[in-house]
Amino acid sequence: MATAGKVIKCKAAVAWEPNKPLVIEEIEVAPPEDNEVRIKIVSTAVCHSDLYHLLEGMNKKGFPTVLGHEAAGIVESVGSGVTEFQPGDKVIPIFLSQCKECSLCKSPKTNQCKEGWTRVCQESMSGVETRLTCKGKKILQFMGTSTFSEYTVIDQIAVAKIDPGAPLDKICLIGCGICTGYGAAVNTAKVEPGSTCAVFGLGAVGLAAVMGCKAAGAKRIIAVDINPEKAEKAKALGATDFVNPKDHNKPIHEVLAEMTNGGVDFSVECVGKVEVMRSALESCVPAWGVSVIVGWTQLFEVAIPPVLLISGRTLKGSLFGGFKSKDGVTGMVKAYLDKKIHLDEFITHNMTLDQVNDAIELMKHGKCIRAVMSVSQQ
Ligand code: APR
Ligand code: ZN
Repeated sequence: MATAGKVIKCKAAVAWEPNKPLVIEEIEVAPPEDNEVRIKIVSTAVCHSDLYHLLEGMNKKGFPTVLGHEAAGIVESVGSGVTEFQPGDKVIPIFLSQCKECSLCKSPKTNQCKEGWTRVCQESMSGVETRLTCKGKKILQFMGTSTFSEYTVIDQIAVAKIDPGAPLDKICLIGCGICTGYGAAVNTAKVEPGSTCAVFGLGAVGLAAVMGCKAAGAKRIIAVDINPEKAEKAKALGATDFVNPKDHNKPIHEVLAEMTNGGVDFSVECVGKVEVMRSALESCVPAWGVSVIVGWTQLFEVAIPPVLLISGRTLKGSLFGGFKSKDGVTGMVKAYLDKKIHLDEFITHNMTLDQVNDAIELMKHGKCIRAVMSVSQQ
């Protein structure tokens, strides 16, 4: 490769400060160092976490940065010590690592990895190790990935190799939203055949949870959203009912209890609001209902009367759908190629990186499920 070992100058969408439009800039991307992989990003989508973490100002120290963590691309070059990847491999960057060596990676009980979770949790980006600069300034790598850029550099423990036949403009969604929602139903809630489920919030994450409930054999899947435009897509992906809390003058958990003769077996919260987390828990059948929190918020705490749990409900949380990150991504790409999961239905807009601010506006106003931006030619 002509570019291997050299700094690459390329286009990226830089977030210089909170709540301001991103600016398309020329940035410099340094060559990968030990155990790192430099990736040409081909397609990337906007996820709500991009908005929450930075644009909505929750992490004011995290600027300037390049956002983006749901993407697919091609390996351009690798640093020393990298044996798993070669230039030309098709890959998906992941915000959660799987080093395969730490005690967490070796345990079947969790998908967390000592290497990656610390980084996501404490900094939301890899500040020290960034390989990106612009106008003489270090650019923080949001969630360690920074995919709103033609090139990025990522630690090999946070990159998944995928089938070379996979269409990158579709399977990019597997890098976050699809695994997060689908896995929350299948891996974390462990939805059972014949069960009744409720999914709160029908963005890409919630719709993927609906798809997961269906794949797990749920008999009834109640999709809940305050935006009535989400009903059709939810039903196309397997929901049997749609409920808009705004159409009712009593709490949503009472509505669901009436519809299900006492409550649902499983509920999944894919909104990121504490009051919805409480409703989702309360919507579960008291004796054995399982509720899973997927939506992300750092701003508030959930207030739960102990009796809700003492009666027999379980409240769980799920990060990246409980998938061991590398293994899960590779497997979900295969599931798409084998026609076992849907992705095309989630893509409502195809755009280019230059249109990133329009894509963000669509996401902010609930006008898209996923807007996929083409970043580089393959
Ligand atoms: N009750 C039900 N649905 C709601 C409510 C509510 N009170 N408030 C908002 N919603 C719906 C919105 O109408 C929207 O359809 O929740 C959905 C959220 O979807 P997106 O904004 O598209 O977000 P998505 O990318 O799916 O992510 C959802 O998961 O990973 C996290 O950070 C992410 O917290 C976010 C969540
Ligand atoms: Zn690990």
